[in-house]
Amino acid sequence: MPSIAAETLDATTSAVAAEARAGLTARPRTLSAWLFYDEEGSRLFEQITELPEYYLTRTERSIFSAHADEILRRAAGDERRTLTLIELGAGTATKTGILLAAAIRQQGKVVYQPVDVSESALAAASENIEANFPDVTVRCQVADYTREPLPLDRLPGLRTLALYIGSSIGNFSPQAAAALLANIRAQLLPGDKLLLGTDLGPGRNKSADTLVAAYDDDAGVTAAFNRNVLTRLNRDLGADFRPESFDHRAVWNADQSRIEMHLASLAKQRVHLPATASAPALAIDFAPGETIHTENSYKFTPDSIDALLKPAGFVIDQSWLDPLHLFAVTLATAV
Ligand code: AVJ
Repeated sequence: MPSIAAETLDATTSAVAAEARAGLTARPRTLSAWLFYDEEGSRLFEQITELPEYYLTRTERSIFSAHADEILRRAAGDERRTLTLIELGAGTATKTGILLAAAIRQQGKVVYQPVDVSESALAAASENIEANFPDVTVRCQVADYTREPLPLDRLPGLRTLALYIGSSIGNFSPQAAAALLANIRAQLLPGDKLLLGTDLGPGRNKSADTLVAAYDDDAGVTAAFNRNVLTRLNRDLGADFRPESFDHRAVWNADQSRIEMHLASLAKQRVHLPATASAPALAIDFAPGETIHTENSYKFTPDSIDALLKPAGFVIDQSWLDPLHLFAVTLATAV
């Protein structure tokens, strides 16, 4: 009898295989951004969040630090409802502490429900939160909120505040983002709240160069993060990529309002994916300069945030921006 962990592993590996085969045979070639987050990729992402060029994480945190009490007060509303916080893609929940501390100041005790695909990230999150906040009860849920309905634990009488922070929404196409927000909305009751973190497009204090630098840092951590997807395919699928034979590229696409990450083949080369139980072996030929599109990171404006939320059934209460208008945190009500 296989353990649950082994079954989960197999399910992940076959999803990786399906994604890699479909993406690498498509034109242009693509790989989905979720493939970045194996153990090494998650470690590299944590490192990215501390880079001088990567302003997103620290700017969102500064907005929380400046406005957490006001955000939580508005979320509870004039009726001063008791909130339960559910976080989508919680990861290790490092920024959430600021919001939880404000919730404790407001209502005493808090039930916090982090949702993530990664059991190990959730274990780290609950250890971190329980150690630092004795007034918080953590209820972890392992789930892929992009595919399944939200596993919402409805607590009678409580208002839900759903957190979708870190500009995670930016990885989704406008269509997929709309579907995801509608799925979130479908699990909420009218009056429940959503707190959405979004990175902003170029503006007075933010050039396209600032955006590109955030995805092409001097230390090369983002380049390593990008190439690591090839290392992952080698390990998980037995592919024979030479990651160092691909160049990291970050490009600002103004038409689509997104940063794109690509891997460009430095030479003419052939890569092999071995046969699996359900698919034959695959050989992929790269021309010199040929690219694999590995990520989109959409950037927003106040108008595009509204255009995203409204059709999904949310009405904006308020947005909070940092003084340089690099990042926005938006509170909205399910209607
Ligand atoms: C985790 C999706 C918010 O798009 O900024 C960071 C991922 N990619 N550097 C982002 C990422 C390259 C990140 N998100």
